[in-house]
Formats: sequence, C-alpha cells, structure tokens
Amino acid sequence: MPQAPKAAPLKIAVAGLGTVGAGVLKLLAAQGALIEQRCGRRIEVVAVSARSRGKDRGVDLSAVRWYDDPVALAADPDADLVVELIGGSEGPARDTVATALETGKHVVTANKALLAVHGTEIALKAEGKGLTVAFEAAVAGGIPIIKGLREGLAGNRVTEIHGILNGTCNYILTEMRTTGRDFADVLADAQALGYAEADPSFDIDGVDAAHKLAVLASVAFGTPVDFGSVHIEGIRHVSAVDFDYADQLGFRIKLLGIARRTDAGIEQRVHPCMVPKSAPIASVDGVFNAVVAQADFADRVLFVGRGAGAGPTASAVVADLIDVARGRSTPTFGVPAGALGAATPSPMESRRGSYYVRLMVVDRPGVIADIAAAMRDQNVSMEQFLQRGRSPGEAVPVVLTTHDTDEAAMQKALATIAAQDTVVEPPRMIRIEQF
Ligand SMILES: NC(=O)c1ccc[n+]([C@@H]2O[C@H](COP(=O)([O-])OP(=O)(O)OC[C@H]3O[C@@H](n4cnc5c(N)ncnc54)[C@H](OP(=O)(O)O)[C@@H]3O)[C@@H](O)[C@H]2O)c1
Repeated sequence: MPQAPKAAPLKIAVAGLGTVGAGVLKLLAAQGALIEQRCGRRIEVVAVSARSRGKDRGVDLSAVRWYDDPVALAADPDADLVVELIGGSEGPARDTVATALETGKHVVTANKALLAVHGTEIALKAEGKGLTVAFEAAVAGGIPIIKGLREGLAGNRVTEIHGILNGTCNYILTEMRTTGRDFADVLADAQALGYAEADPSFDIDGVDAAHKLAVLASVAFGTPVDFGSVHIEGIRHVSAVDFDYADQLGFRIKLLGIARRTDAGIEQRVHPCMVPKSAPIASVDGVFNAVVAQADFADRVLFVGRGAGAGPTASAVVADLIDVARGRSTPTFGVPAGALGAATPSPMESRRGSYYVRLMVVDRPGVIADIAAAMRDQNVSMEQFLQRGRSPGEAVPVVLTTHDTDEAAMQKALATIAAQDTVVEPPRMIRIEQF
C-alpha cells in the first residue's frame, strides 16, 4: 500500500533567545522525535532574532536565518508561526506580534504583560484572521493552567480563582518565615541567586502577579482582559514579626492573586494574605506557584508546579506549538473574542472579610481603648488582641484580628487609628482569606 505523504513541517520563527527562548530551542532539539510523533509532523525552527548575535546561547543556530530586528523576523514569508519571547507590553514584543498576525502567522507567546494590557485586542485580530494566539507559558510557567481552565474545565462555570502567581515573592516570603530574616536581606539573597531581577519592582510590587491574574480571570470568566481594574499591593511592607504573629494565629502569609465573580461584579486583587495553615495553598513554598479554581461541577481544583525557569516555561511554549502543529484550536480566551462579556469590576472597598492589623503604639493607659473606639465607630468587631510584654512609655507592637467586615469600614478605622499620636508607625494590615 502506498504510504501517505508526510505532512509538511510547522515552520517557526523565534523572537527572543533569553532564558525562555534558548530553553525552547533546547527542548525542541532534545525531544524532536517525541514531538514529531505527537504532532504528526516536525516542528522546524527556520529563523531567530535577539539583540546580540555573538552571544553563546548553548544551541546550534548555524542552520537558521538570523534577524537583528524581530519585526522583520515576524514578516518572514517562510514561517507559519512566530514565537514571541522578548517580553514587555509595548515596543518590539507588541510590534512583533502585530506583524506576525498581519502577515497571517499564528503566535505563541509567554508574555503576560502584553496580554494583560492588549490581550483582548490581540485576540480579536487573531480570530478575525482565523489565527491562533497561544500563551500557556504566560501564566504560572510550567503549570498547564490555561488549558486546565479553558479546556479541562470547559463544562463548568468558574466562580473563583486564587493563586500564588509569582515565584520570586513566594521564595522571599518562604525564606522570611523559615529564617526569621527581614525582607531587604532576603531580597538581596534572592537577587544573588538569580531568583529576583536586578530591578525587582515588577515582582515584589505585585505587578507581575496582577498581569497573570488579569489573563486568568479572562479565561476563567469569559470576560475581556481588564488589568486596569486589578487592585495591586506588593510585599515590601510584610515584616519579619508578621510571620511570628501569623504562626501564633494559625496562618501563613502568601502573596495571592484572587479573582471572584460576585453579585457586585468581577473582583480582581493581588496583595499579601494570611491563609489558614490547613489551606492547600499555604504549604506551597519556595519558587513554586499554585492556582486553585472553584468550578460549579468539578468543585475545587488545585494546580501546583514551577512558575518559571527555562525548562518549565519551555515545556508550556512547546505544548502550544504542538497544539498548533496538530491543528487543535480554541478561541484565545475560551469564548470567541467578540463574545467576551463585558463585566463590571467590583471595587476593592466592597471586599468583605477579616483583617490582621499590627500597630506600634506608645505603652500608656488609654491607648488600647482609643484603638477599640476607632474600630467600634466603624462597626468593626475585633476577634483577637495580642500584646507582647510591657514597656511603659515606649513603643510596643500590638496585633489584632477582626471578624468579617467591609474593606471601606476597615480603611476608615485604620485612618483614624493612624492619626492618633500614640500610634508611632503607619498601621500594617494584612487581609485574612479563609479558603
Ligand atoms: N524567565 C522565565 O522563567 C519566564 C517565565 C514565564 C514567562 N516568561 C516570559 O517570557 C518572556 C521572555 O522572558 P526571558 O526570561 O526569556 O527574558 P530574557 O532572558 O531577558 O530574554 C529576552 C530576549 O529578548 C531579546 N530581546 C530583547 N529586546 C530585543 C529587541 N529589541 N530586539 C530583539 N530581541 C530582543 C534578548 O536578546 P539578547 O539575548 O541578545 O539580549 C533576549 O534574547 C517574557 O515575556 C517573560 O515575561 C519568562
């Protein structure tokens, strides 16, 4: 019997040869035979682009075309698909993706910043041309959370997702808890070890997690990507003493991204949280990421894995390449981009839940009564109160937790407390999430 002709290879052009780009080329080279079986055809790298041609990237580039300009690479008529691994919401990454789509090529990207800011517009453009934009690597690195939500839970309505979406922050918080060291000290170590960037602000100020949360929320709820509505707080103000108190109170401190569909609209927030030690997410430590989805039929689903690094991120990029090579295609965010249902953002002030508050107050009579009065005036009911030791006339830490209350009331109470002359530092507040 005559053999069926071999399918033509999927020809790809890779823009960006850093941690992820070089990782993708290494994975493709190492697993060529396996990938060919799974795709029914080969994936062939035909062109690459980066800034520095001379840099050794540990991969053989002798047989591929080199472009100094990634936008010119994106227009290469020989490529079927462009892999964008440059990063950033604007500039060359955005132009590369735009050119790829304009010239009729599928796109695979790991760029959460780009998708958080321009995701809906990119999806509309791609789907209008019958092209795929795939981005498994953009959220939680090696964890297949996009496919997990979009395909695996496709029969469900997802009402909530929450997760540890930034490995750098989780590493820093884990080190602070286990060693008792301060934030600045642990951050310096993380930079030396390569777990934190030289400019770590995107990570530690919560922006990176917020980019990922905005993308996840779109996939989970079928709504347009709305990064502008994410409430963002980072971990700079979490102090070593907060870990001691959290431990006494039965909590762990995590930077979480939380998105919920509520009657008031879509809630999206990134901030440090206290979570019960018994919550599955509480024991996800170090550089690991985790995402929990609450779905109406499947119930609670937990995904855990490595959120960054060459291997895990390349794994996610290559899974997307295999989908395209196989002809498997899904609307970018799970429903056609034109049908993403606009949703009202639910403001942070409407969050309802309990709170941990740490104050530095002058140890003298009446101080606690004044704090209690500020809480009472806003109908905030206190649950626990901890004061360690006494030091008359000196500043001492006082910690309290509240019963469920509204964020707006809590903020007003904290403003009144901060203005008291016996309160010597700005109050530190961490929201408690009872998952
Ligand atoms: N690193 C991770 O673990 C990870 C995980 C998930 C997602 N991501 C995402 O993956 C993407 C890439 O991250 P990465 O860590 O691989 O970054 P990276 O190591 O900094 O690599 C960026 C690459 O882009 C190239 N590049 C930068 N500006 C360029 C320009 N104007 N023209 C052409 N090439 C340019 C750089 O060239 P040179 O090498 O010549 O400087 C480099 O090869 C980002 O969107 C990031 O958010 C990364």
